Amino acid sequence: MQRATRDDAFLVETCVHAAREAAAGISHRARDLSALDWQVKSRADFVSIVDHEAEAKITEILLTAFPDATMMGEELTPGSTIGDGLTFIVDPLDGTTNFLHGYPNYAVSIGAMLGGVLRAGVVLDVARNVTFTAAAGAGAARDGTPIRVSSVTDPSRALVGTGFPFKHPSHIPAYLPQFARLMQSTAGVRRAGAAALDLADVACGRFDAFWELMLAPWDMAAGILLVREAGGVVTDLGGSPLAPSHSGVVASNGLMHPWMLAQLHDGA
Ligand code: IPD
Ligand code: CA
Ligand code: CA
Repeated sequence: MQRATRDDAFLVETCVHAAREAAAGISHRARDLSALDWQVKSRADFVSIVDHEAEAKITEILLTAFPDATMMGEELTPGSTIGDGLTFIVDPLDGTTNFLHGYPNYAVSIGAMLGGVLRAGVVLDVARNVTFTAAAGAGAARDGTPIRVSSVTDPSRALVGTGFPFKHPSHIPAYLPQFARLMQSTAGVRRAGAAALDLADVACGRFDAFWELMLAPWDMAAGILLVREAGGVVTDLGGSPLAPSHSGVVASNGLMHPWMLAQLHDGA
């Protein structure tokens, strides 16, 4: 494992700073959830001032450090495209529904791409105050301590994370047989409601694998790098390397990847 280049180390440091400032605001707002007004973006997709404040703070910090960068953020700049220049892919609050209900599983997620390649990723678990970081070629860490994916190979011992396609009901018929197969053949399936944290859980070996049928770039940019830098594999459902565009995702410790892909396609 190499050390992060000075440029990547500065990227990670700046993303951590931005994520911490955003998390401080989110935690402050969490003290009085009853004061929050929820807006409905689409069915089962909510947003509040908390998401907007967090993204504004992240944007201010990142653009102060990197004035030429492009921002792609879920709430303020979702239509941005990922070019060759430095692009930050930001979910200011992943797990908004959890947050609004006081269910303590939500995160700030910031990925940085350069030349179409992920260089840095930060996922901050706000309720537990734990920071996951990764830099290209330099490994992944939890609060500064290196992390690795698990070494589980036996599906009957595996704990697998998932996300439901609740925002995309047309995917439910394809999803349910996958869920049934994984439930029957593993030690357990968990759905905690924040994809960035699901990917961090694969990276640190708490989950042996994770799949979800439809994620946005900001849900997974940072998490993809975390898993890869922790020794795992992230692909689309066909097994091709995954870039952070809207799509299905399979992440695993690598050892279980072929088995996961086969389960997801069995009978599909
Ligand atoms: C959602 C969460 C959830 C996943 C959804 C995402 P949001 O993000 O990551 O786990 O199942 O697909 O949209 O809306 O809370 O930022
Ligand atoms: Ca999200
Ligand atoms: Ca979000």
